[in-house]
Amino acid sequence: MVPVRSLDDLMETAHGYQRSMALFAALKLGIFSALARGGAGAAAVARRVGADRRRLAVLLNGLTAMGLLRKTGGRYRNGEVAASFLVGGPRSKTSILLHQGDCWRDWSRLEETVRGGRKERPLGGDEQENFIRGMEDNARERAAHVAAKFRLRPGERLLDLGGGPGTYAVAWARRYPRAAVTLFDTRGTLRITRRILDEKGAFGVVRLIEGDFLADPIGGPYDFIWISHILHAFSEKDCRALLRKARRAVVAGGRVAVQEFLVDEGGASPPGPAFFSVHMVAVTEGGRAYSAREVAGMLRAAGFGKTAFAGSDPRGVGIVTARA
Ligand SMILES: C[S@@+](CC[C@H](N)C(=O)[O-])C[C@H]1O[C@@H](n2cnc3c(N)ncnc32)[C@H](O)[C@@H]1O
Repeated sequence: MVPVRSLDDLMETAHGYQRSMALFAALKLGIFSALARGGAGAAAVARRVGADRRRLAVLLNGLTAMGLLRKTGGRYRNGEVAASFLVGGPRSKTSILLHQGDCWRDWSRLEETVRGGRKERPLGGDEQENFIRGMEDNARERAAHVAAKFRLRPGERLLDLGGGPGTYAVAWARRYPRAAVTLFDTRGTLRITRRILDEKGAFGVVRLIEGDFLADPIGGPYDFIWISHILHAFSEKDCRALLRKARRAVVAGGRVAVQEFLVDEGGASPPGPAFFSVHMVAVTEGGRAYSAREVAGMLRAAGFGKTAFAGSDPRGVGIVTARA
């Protein structure tokens, strides 16, 4: 995130939503996918996506000004970033971007939320699909590294708590086929998870348990519980209750690892996690980003032993581990 240090930065920040909305509209209209079939003029793109030609031509020029499209002699084609990330395929970020677009509704009411007058809005059907597939977009590259870092011995039982699309669970199950990998998530999410596993040819490699991890038992015993990008959506009280439940479900000597966008002490840096924390205030009832020290404290309070933290990556994602 670029800090605001000048009047130009201030104006750029104020206009930032217009760029976001142009991107989301283009994604929903299917402009990048339409152009993946070949470069075209505004009239042809309007026909391909079913839009008003005059207005679409203006949007295409705006997207060109943003660098997402290239324009030569009246014909548009996808720029490098659009061709890499906005047209599907293994590097796609389409779902996570559509999810960001869905969150716009919550962000537009941030003032009211901060005043304390708004409850969390449940995600609708398409929104839940964008959210869960978006988690896959986020985790796709990282999951293999995580699975390599946290080895599983034959017979070891891993729980991916709130495992969403199953990106991490599948990476472990494929790398350590003699381990037993379980993913716990809500009914609504698992409906999507099953489709994703099917698409990846991974149906059956991971055991699925359906439930609400705050209200229901989470199964067990497990040798290792992986809790990735869960705590930030919940209040400290709920996080503590969830970690106590995890502690009861893990065997003595077993492991827990909590992956999060981690803020520094005080919460105002680094910029990515500090601003992600605002996002959590916008979209959840009690969530915010926690610091590594806060996560470690909550783990110890839940009954886990000595914690370890090896630092965050450049995006501010870090993992706090502990033994039971
Ligand atoms: C931000 S996603 C993280 C997904 C995955 N762990 C990852 O890191 O890619 C949060 C996940 O927690 C799940 N979740 C949220 N509340 C839950 C609850 N009360 N019980 C079970 N799962 C829940 C959501 O359905 C979603 O899959």
